[in-house]
Amino acid sequence: MKIEQQDVQQDVAAVHSVHEFAFGVPDLKVAGQFYASFGLDVRHEDGGLGLYTDGHPHRWGRVLQGGAKKLLWLSLGLYQPELAALLRRCGRHHVAPIERPHPQAPDGVWIAAPDGVPLCLQVAPKSSPSVASAREFAPASGNAGRAPQRCAIRQVRPTHLSHILLFTPDIGAAIAFYCDVLGLRLSDRSGDLVAFLHSPHGSDHHLIAFARSSAPGLHHTSWNVPSFDAVGLGAQQMAQAGHPDGWGLGRHVLGSNYFRYVRDPWGSYAEYSFDIDFIPAGAVWPAGDYPPEDSLYVWGPDLPADFITNHEVPVM
Ligand SMILES: [Fe+2]
Repeated sequence: MKIEQQDVQQDVAAVHSVHEFAFGVPDLKVAGQFYASFGLDVRHEDGGLGLYTDGHPHRWGRVLQGGAKKLLWLSLGLYQPELAALLRRCGRHHVAPIERPHPQAPDGVWIAAPDGVPLCLQVAPKSSPSVASAREFAPASGNAGRAPQRCAIRQVRPTHLSHILLFTPDIGAAIAFYCDVLGLRLSDRSGDLVAFLHSPHGSDHHLIAFARSSAPGLHHTSWNVPSFDAVGLGAQQMAQAGHPDGWGLGRHVLGSNYFRYVRDPWGSYAEYSFDIDFIPAGAVWPAGDYPPEDSLYVWGPDLPADFITNHEVPVM
């Protein structure tokens, strides 16, 4: 899809990254096994697990001990010179500060999304990619053929967090809030089923996305890998580690990435993602509203029956 460059506008103040996500699970040991098997660098720190990627200094996420699996908060990264403008925008939209939502949450400026998810506005270096991620045809291999040798396969290790997808009860309200208040831009949507947002400072097609549900919740975190083979090898790696359930391999329409979603022990997913569309800083992406059949995939296996189940909906 063709995208155009434009001059960066004056009021471009916007979140540039999902700085860190945090969710609670009933068993940290099980979570540690899952994410280490997935290929993340899992560290025991700050009273929970820190999720890192191989060779990258940034902590992308935290997993904390809780009851049932639950999205706890997001911290959103922004540039210091834009903080005042963002806070003014919060004021204009009657978005009031809230208390720090959790004893293990960082200090900072806290607000709530329309669905109640606590958000920390955090001045931080940009952790979302600023250029399109590198594409390898196949993992490096010493043989003459195009395929890597099975005996030379190493553990798939994602390079960075690409995006996070959350459940929310009102897609329109989420788009309005994250765009009008926090400066993100709509990439694409499918009616009121799903919406995908990017940062005008440059990001993947979506650094945050939303799917409709009756309550907020975490659907999946998505992690970049450098080749299509790595998506398939990741699926195999997780099956061998005792996590055979999920969806894919397949390819999305919106965002274009190849995927394999691996179901975690609590019904949410970690996604291996390759070749997602990238929207450079200052570019205009022609946001589309796509029919429901385009909202999920171009090709792939049938969708598992519980793929879009929000396990964080309170039991009545
Ligand atoms: Fe995804």
